[in-house]
Amino acid sequence: MPVMSVVERTFCRSLPWCAFAERVVLPWALSGDDLHGDVLEIGGGTGAMAAGVIDRFPDLRLTVTDIDPVMVAAARRRLASLAQVSVEQADVTALPFADATFDVVTSYLMLHHVVDWRPALTEALRVLRPGGRLVGYDLTDSLAARLVHRVDGSPVSMIGSVELRVALRDAGFTGVAVASTAIGHVMRFEATRP
Ligand SMILES: C[S@@+](CC[C@H](N)C(=O)[O-])C[C@H]1O[C@@H](n2cnc3c(N)ncnc32)[C@H](O)[C@@H]1O
Repeated sequence: MPVMSVVERTFCRSLPWCAFAERVVLPWALSGDDLHGDVLEIGGGTGAMAAGVIDRFPDLRLTVTDIDPVMVAAARRRLASLAQVSVEQADVTALPFADATFDVVTSYLMLHHVVDWRPALTEALRVLRPGGRLVGYDLTDSLAARLVHRVDGSPVSMIGSVELRVALRDAGFTGVAVASTAIGHVMRFEATRP
């Protein structure tokens, strides 16, 4: 079930984006974070970020999920040689995992593609162990972002940084931090399950 336009899918699967995401975006998104234990990546796309995560943290166990079977197949191909990684098709608003399964949930540039995105936060909280963290980044709601997506025609729900902060707290997270950067066009966020 693809949720992105043809242009977005092509962009996300392109070699330049995958290389940029893995080498430049990932270190910024993690900002020195030490990932450990059982990690779930939601909306993992082609697995480019996952490959970078395993390069940096080879000892963790990583589950990569995406709703789009084409992305799941691409991620499976990219990550096939990594025994500590599994790739599954899953909708972030109805994750097929038991409560308290993961130490970290990561979300890179995917939340705005989930039109009804608040249930994704509730699901991330549910599958995290107490003390576990949600870490990620996304585009921030802006005129430019709305225009690009309107032209592109893909269904999105752009999220403001204050809106995300409030929604994370409402979902039950503590230690919520949402920081805008790139002249307000991108936001990095983290939150903890109490
Ligand atoms: C812009 S791509 C980002 C991919 C990857 N995280 C990256 O940084 O390269 C957004 C991804 O979110 C996925 N996605 C959108 N809605 C989803 C949902 N409800 N559940 C799971 N994945 C979803 C899309 O299929 C797509 O692969």
